[in-house]
Amino acid sequence: MGIRVEATADWPAIYTICEAAFRQLIEADLVHRMHDDGDLILSLIAYADKPAGHVAFSHLAIQELPALKGCVLAPLAVAPEFQRQGIGSTLVRHGLERLRADGYDLVLVLGDPDYYARFGFTPGLASQLKTPYDGPYLQALALSEKGKEAHGPVSYARAFAELK
Ligand SMILES: CC(C)(COP(=O)(O)OP(=O)(O)OC[C@H]1O[C@@H](n2cnc3c(N)ncnc32)[C@H](O)[C@@H]1OP(=O)(O)O)[C@@H](O)C(=O)NCCC(=O)NCCS
Repeated sequence: MGIRVEATADWPAIYTICEAAFRQLIEADLVHRMHDDGDLILSLIAYADKPAGHVAFSHLAIQELPALKGCVLAPLAVAPEFQRQGIGSTLVRHGLERLRADGYDLVLVLGDPDYYARFGFTPGLASQLKTPYDGPYLQALALSEKGKEAHGPVSYARAFAELK
């Protein structure tokens, strides 16, 4: 399995993966909108013998701490035939390593805590923030010491507000 940064030619693959994983196109459209809005920080595709998984990271503004570099992990998708082979975990870990190297301080995710705890995400850190998704499924991971001090209201990429 290989991982590469998304290129324009990968759009059909991203749609195929997301539609297979979520059985709808909302998540693929979200990625496309974030891309068009310039809000995507990192978009990675995992290839096995064909496109197998995808993860996107987008801008997050922490309003009271504008110098803090935040981002949102969403969506994460692995096509059903490739699930439970470590592809989702590899995509997340690869993405987090790149973000840490790029100086990011904080990553937010909305998802199952049983899955995201393995990467170090916790609801406790997320509860310091005020988001449209507050609750037990919202989790955060600090990539730096500064990240642990994140607090207050945040702004997601515009495309999230158009989801409902
Ligand atoms: C969630 C998802 C990305 C995981 O990808 P994956 O490649 O199958 O995951 P991995 O192989 O890296 O990890 C498998 C582990 O995660 C667990 N797992 C998989 N999906 C899970 C879920 N929805 N909730 C909790 N745990 C889950 C498995 O039990 C397995 O645990 P184990 O290592 O203890 O056996 C994939 O199942 C998927 O695309 N699902 C549909 C879309 C979705 O729900 N995306 C997440 C949105 S937040």
